Amino acid sequence: MERRTNSPYPRLDRPVLAIIGLVLVLSTVLFTVGDRQHEWRYYQFAFRNAVAEKYGPAKADTVRAGLQQVWVPDLGRADRCTTCHQAVQWAGFEAAEEPFRTHPKEILRSHPVEKFGCTSCHGGQGWAVDVDPAHGPVEHWEDPVLGASLGESYGIVDNTRAMMQMKCNVCHRYDRETKGADFINLGKQLVRDKGCRACHTINGRGGTIGPDLTNVGDKAAEQYDFSRLNGQKTAFAWHVAHLKEPKGLVPDTVMPNFHLSTKEAQALATLIMSWQRAPVPASFVPSVPRTDPRTPDEVVAEERMKTGPGAWFVSTGCFVCHSIKVFGITSPAQIGPDLSNAVEDVQSRFGRTIDDFLAAPTGTMSVVLSRQIILTPEQKQVAIGKLREAFAEYQKQKAAGTLKPAASH
Ligand code: HEC
Ligand code: HEC
Ligand code: HEC
Ligand code: HEC
Ligand code: HEC
Repeated sequence: MERRTNSPYPRLDRPVLAIIGLVLVLSTVLFTVGDRQHEWRYYQFAFRNAVAEKYGPAKADTVRAGLQQVWVPDLGRADRCTTCHQAVQWAGFEAAEEPFRTHPKEILRSHPVEKFGCTSCHGGQGWAVDVDPAHGPVEHWEDPVLGASLGESYGIVDNTRAMMQMKCNVCHRYDRETKGADFINLGKQLVRDKGCRACHTINGRGGTIGPDLTNVGDKAAEQYDFSRLNGQKTAFAWHVAHLKEPKGLVPDTVMPNFHLSTKEAQALATLIMSWQRAPVPASFVPSVPRTDPRTPDEVVAEERMKTGPGAWFVSTGCFVCHSIKVFGITSPAQIGPDLSNAVEDVQSRFGRTIDDFLAAPTGTMSVVLSRQIILTPEQKQVAIGKLREAFAEYQKQKAAGTLKPAASH
């Protein structure tokens, strides 16, 4: 048998072993104490007492103890929010303080907790069981609870809880309107009224002058240029500022200033940030078909204009931004000026003939004619001819006193 070598430090062996043993015992004790001090234990204790007070001790025994979790494999979520928010599905606590309040019922009827969890609507870190990590915000927008506290810090006007609708619209993006999501509905209305699609593709339909916005909500905070932004450096704040004054953040942009109110810009920013490549399976996306079709009214109006004297402007796509009132053409967006008298207007505004302007356009039209509507020299001649026809009609109507006022919003 091999003989054990003597320890070079015979006097130290035992004390060292004793210290290691003590440290192990102590850390176990500290860990247990630390775990018992988790805030959720206090909330569970308090909720149990509240139930006992209201419904008696027998009922209080049915309150589940320990970590709670709603596991939704389809959404890849394991939400432990109910560890503290135990009252969610209890009746009778509608007026209690959070986290002891009964959840608003109607929304959970169509979205049962077992199927949707909590964070798919609220945001937050589902696995966390302490208040701050669960609610956030953690640095750089890592999916905090989109609740009243965050809304306040972002200065959301009217309804500080409205940012939560960003989450609703990840699934409801193809709805024209979603009950309970007023802020998003306002944003969608503005996208239609202001004609964002004149320049942007959204859900597969629209122009190519600006970037495709279909998945712009996936853009990481690091991808934004915050150098011209004052105040909070968040993607949300960037969008609000950009929507209010695009040139303030991107000096050479051709995106127009739509003179939006703060509320409108915030609603649009919430909508924009909801446009994410959906991390949810198709069965969680309600609307069918999954497109954003034009309304029957829009289609009919376009068909009618396609057969009139201004048909060329419709089929070429100029009417997306320009009305040509003398031909009865009304642009849905009216981003550019009415082209009825462009021949004269270009001359007086730029000191150039219409031929020169179309040959070497400036401003928005230089982007339009290089990115969205590419015209050959022959097609440009056709355009000039059509603009002259419009102007002739303009002068005729003016002389006859039948000219309608220029297009306006
Ligand atoms: C389908 C979406 C949806 C799901 C899923 C959902 N909620 Fe809610 N929750 C809402 C809506 C909508 C409100 C009402 C917000 C308001 O008053 O503006 C709300 C309100 C709340 C409130 C009160 C918020 C406040 O500001 O007073 C809490 C807390 C809450 N939910 C927690 C949870 C928890 C915990 C879960 C998971 C068990 C959950 N919710 C699941 C949509 C949802
Ligand atoms: C450790 C306990 C705890 C956990 C875990 C927890 N909460 Fe809360 N929650 C609270 C408390 C306490 C309040 C009330 C005080 C406050 O607002 O911070 C609250 C308030 C809220 C509110 C209303 C406040 C607001 O800003 O609108 C919402 C919404 C909410 N929680 C959602 C969630 C969601 C979603 C989760 C899971 C990701 C979650 N909570 C996890 C304890 C918790
Ligand atoms: C994870 C995806 C998802 C999220 C998040 C979500 N919904 Fe839904 N919602 C659905 C699905 C799927 C249905 C269709 C349910 C069905 O088949 O009846 C639905 C149905 C609805 C309906 C119609 C219910 C009815 O009674 O007919 C409304 C209104 C609605 N959701 C509003 C909201 C609001 C408001 C939010 C945010 C607070 C939200 N949803 C969040 C997926 C979602
Ligand atoms: C005349 C064309 C035009 C119109 C109309 C227009 N945009 Fe833009 N938009 C642009 C251009 C060009 C850019 C790229 C330069 C910039 O960031 O300003 C842009 C950028 C954006 C961005 C930033 C995208 C990114 O990836 O950073 C968003 C978001 C946006 N637009 C939203 C809108 C919304 C919402 C509307 C309608 C209210 C709208 N735009 C109308 C031309 C337009
Ligand atoms: C995406 C929107 C958009 C489209 C599409 C578009 N335009 Fe424009 N256009 C504008 C804007 C905005 C202006 C004003 C530009 C400025 O002041 O820099 C403008 C200005 C003009 C002008 C000068 C008008 C004046 O009175 O000063 C002419 C001419 C013109 N466009 C012709 C056309 C023609 C022809 C087409 C179709 C081939 C077309 N545009 C398509 C946005 C558009």
